[in-house]
Amino acid sequence: MPNSIVINPVKSISESVLNRLLTIEHACFSEPWSPAMFVISKMEGIITAETGDKTVGFACFQHFLDECHILNVAVLPAFRKQGIGRQLVEWLFTRLTEAKDFFLEVRESNRTAISLYESMGFQIIGERKEYYRDKENALVMHKKNKWKQG
Ligand SMILES: CC(C)(COP(=O)(O)OP(=O)(O)OC[C@H]1O[C@@H](n2cnc3c(N)ncnc32)[C@H](O)[C@@H]1OP(=O)(O)O)[C@@H](O)C(=O)NCCC(=O)NCCS
Repeated sequence: MPNSIVINPVKSISESVLNRLLTIEHACFSEPWSPAMFVISKMEGIITAETGDKTVGFACFQHFLDECHILNVAVLPAFRKQGIGRQLVEWLFTRLTEAKDFFLEVRESNRTAISLYESMGFQIIGERKEYYRDKENALVMHKKNKWKQG
């Protein structure tokens, strides 16, 4: 794992922050979010993984009372398999201490992401048929936050 990775909450979406997020988004997803989706998401939450002055990954989430919905996790291809995706999701578990339940949707073909989430204690609890624009099904995954049981 690179020892210089720092996870930072995004405080405001400047043009330069938005461009960094979009660069990663386009490198990672076949149906990338539009700029407007990132701006809306900021009202909820975005964290970035930084090394030096480079943004190499991010996670977007909605946190309301005791639930957190992870909307998006992405790491630039050149920086994968170094523990950065895990660090982003762990940041949510340790910082959002009032969140009791974490949920996310993932493409059923996305073995890499499913392995990441399963290795962190998420379990598949359901399926959403034809959830994505290309009609692929989503798996719904859930994990209880160990910091707040019950
Ligand atoms: C999914 C993604 C965020 C993982 O990021 P990452 O920084 O490479 O993940 P990590 O290095 O933290 O890996 C953590 C765990 O995930 C699993 N994992 C990661 N890459 C994997 C791969 N290529 N194959 C199988 N398992 C993998 C492993 O369990 C790994 O643990 P280990 O290193 O102890 O074996 C990254 O691959 C990505 O951006 N993919 C494209 C976008 C995407 O699909 N996002 C998820 C949408 S729900």
